[in-house]
Amino acid sequence: MKTLFINIKELVQIREASVSYVAGKAMKLLPTIKNAYLLIDADRIFAFGPMHECPKESMLEVIDAKGKMILPAWCDSHTHIVYAGSREEEFKDRINGLSYEEIAANGGGILNSAKTLQTTSENDLYEQSKVRLEEVMALGTGAIEIKSGYGLSPESELKMLRVIKRFKKEYPIPIKATFLAAHALPKNFAGDTTAFLNDMLTKVLPVIKKENLATAIDVFCEKGYFSIADTKQVLKEAKDYGLIPKLHVNQFNAIGGVSLAVKYNARSVDHLEHITEDDIEALKNSKTIPVALPGCSYFLGIPFTPARKIINAGLPLALASDYNPGSAPSGNMNFIVSAACIKMKMTPEEAINAATINGAYAMDIQDEVGSITKGKKANLILTKPISSYVELPYAFGSNFIEQVFLNGKSISN
Ligand code: NIG
Ligand code: FE
Repeated sequence: MKTLFINIKELVQIREASVSYVAGKAMKLLPTIKNAYLLIDADRIFAFGPMHECPKESMLEVIDAKGKMILPAWCDSHTHIVYAGSREEEFKDRINGLSYEEIAANGGGILNSAKTLQTTSENDLYEQSKVRLEEVMALGTGAIEIKSGYGLSPESELKMLRVIKRFKKEYPIPIKATFLAAHALPKNFAGDTTAFLNDMLTKVLPVIKKENLATAIDVFCEKGYFSIADTKQVLKEAKDYGLIPKLHVNQFNAIGGVSLAVKYNARSVDHLEHITEDDIEALKNSKTIPVALPGCSYFLGIPFTPARKIINAGLPLALASDYNPGSAPSGNMNFIVSAACIKMKMTPEEAINAATINGAYAMDIQDEVGSITKGKKANLILTKPISSYVELPYAFGSNFIEQVFLNGKSISN
């Protein structure tokens, strides 16, 4: 089955297959074709170009996109959408003056989410979480990473990972699963992080391998959570299982997680609300991509990741939602792109690059998604009529998405 889009006002983010990510000054360039066509064959992008070269094939579904634009669907490389319950009470506590760290110290935070998740059945967890997956797909997300990390016991971590695996079977969106082995220290292991990690790793890693439950490993490397030595312990053991590091680093403090991540060939380092010159140096000449999570900064009122410092140093940057119940209860990538422009001073071109091709790279699926490229999956956003792609981040509260296509099919049909 072939689908032909005609009269596309602007076809955004067209790339050669050889482009894996964009970095530094190149992030300011967003290649497009005005007045374009796009031909999809089954689930793939088959051809595209200016309208005057549009093929005249019959037996096609033809969609007239006059006044509308097409972009690759968003690639959200950092989420925690599998969770139980919510943390609205803590939201009120923060409004009334408590900090995120104070709430966590009082037994709230990640431990609060873990308590709820542990008493939620796998099926109930699936039902609660699929609402969020469907929500973000309708908002234009066409590839997603999902982490575990709210289990804090081997059984509950596996429960989360099995829910993610079920999503992979039942939804048309590419999903990458990450085992967040060290998110917070549960009370029953208070004072003995090493014992907690030993228990978690020895019980979960072999099952991940047997059931093919994850491709990446994550640690919340932060003061008061997991130290550099703890992180090293996790990365060392996960390496034997072929899991690639994608780490939470520098959210509140820069404690050396970035250079450790680079040493272990991490695919990404995420958060980076704080970043040192040494961190920047470590990232140069590495294959590790920095990922900013402006939804978390917005929600917690913490600093935004210094995008200009990172990009001006010649590095790439990806944007992700961090969708989770505690620090970023939104998976709306349209808002993320807008917040990156408004609060991090990224240009619309940089932000769109960061949320598409660079997000795909952060998940190691840049050969499949993240740009309009022949042979890639036809995971696309068709906008409503808009004046230019700048309107997307500019009108920050509006929904400009008319339809989302995954594997060449509209998800609203
Ligand atoms: O990425 N920083 C660590 N983990 C999550 C938030 C955890 C929570 O508060 O539930 C994050 O922001
Ligand atoms: Fe996170």
